[in-house]
Amino acid sequence: MLLTFYLLFIGLHVSEGCTLENRGRPLFITARTGESVLLPCYCTDHVPPDAFLWVKENTDSNEWEEVSSESGQYRDRVQLVNGHSPGNLSLLISHLTEEDGGNYRCEVKGSGYTDIRLTVEGCNLEKTDITQYITARTGGSALLSCYCTDLHTKPETFTWKKLNTNTNMYEEISGGKGQYRDRVQLVNGHSPGNLSLLMSHLTEEDGGFYLCELKGNKRTYIKLTVEEGSTKTTTSTAITASFQTPVSTASQTPSMHLSIVILVVLLLGLLLLGGVVYWRYRGTNRHTG
Ligand SMILES: *[C@@H]1O[C@H](CO)[C@@H](O)[C@H](O)[C@H]1NC(C)=O
Ligand SMILES: *[C@@H]1O[C@H](CO)[C@@H](O)[C@H](O)[C@H]1NC(C)=O
Repeated sequence: MLLTFYLLFIGLHVSEGCTLENRGRPLFITARTGESVLLPCYCTDHVPPDAFLWVKENTDSNEWEEVSSESGQYRDRVQLVNGHSPGNLSLLISHLTEEDGGNYRCEVKGSGYTDIRLTVEGCNLEKTDITQYITARTGGSALLSCYCTDLHTKPETFTWKKLNTNTNMYEEISGGKGQYRDRVQLVNGHSPGNLSLLMSHLTEEDGGFYLCELKGNKRTYIKLTVEEGSTKTTTSTAITASFQTPVSTASQTPSMHLSIVILVVLLLGLLLLGGVVYWRYRGTNRHTG
């Protein structure tokens, strides 16, 4: 009796197949570029379906296209992760790009589908409208700052460029060769959205306009001024300046002032001496007379 019931129970399950969670109700998920995202899809009864497929809506053609790790946009970036549960059909997408945003569907044979709307937040550059001005010294270093408003977002690609004043064109900076050999380095301080460039051993030729550029024409501009930085030169200039000014413009006046002061002091001294002599003379007079 019990065995029959048990067999019937199993039989019912097999014929039912997978019962999809979230069937017919779209799920909204937001993730950031560079991160990974898990698109959930699973059978509530842990029963594996006969067949299933992940598809994404192509907004241009209005057709659902298969999401495949074999080719195209998702090559080597998608994988099924079931966490050892056969009814778990979830899809993991890694290294998200802004193009990954859109409508996904987990289609299960005989059980309908689950829809997921994925929004991928990309890098928006901080300070795009204003040029940043930086001053540094020759031989020193400068941090050309460029970062995404949300430091957790990571742009797919970005380049640092410098204005060539001869051609009036921005040219890419590369740390491995030429003028910048071993002098430039990307420093992100562990934030994927920090795209800053550190330039060291600065020379006067390093001064000029720089830009940090992202796909989609997003840019940040920086004007770097490199000043003569040797301490010896700075000090000698300062000394010359402080000595020249009083000598050239105010040499006559102080000495004239000084002679007048000396004259006044001398006169006062004479008056005082005269007073003392007179007082003593009168005193002597009164004593004798
Ligand atoms: C499906 O597997 C993924 C990856 O192991 C796990 O994160 C997720 O929680 C699982 N979903 C269910 C409903 O078990
Ligand atoms: C980017 O990284 C550099 C180097 O670690 C750090 O000095 C700078 O403050 C960082 N910028 C931001 C916005 O976090």
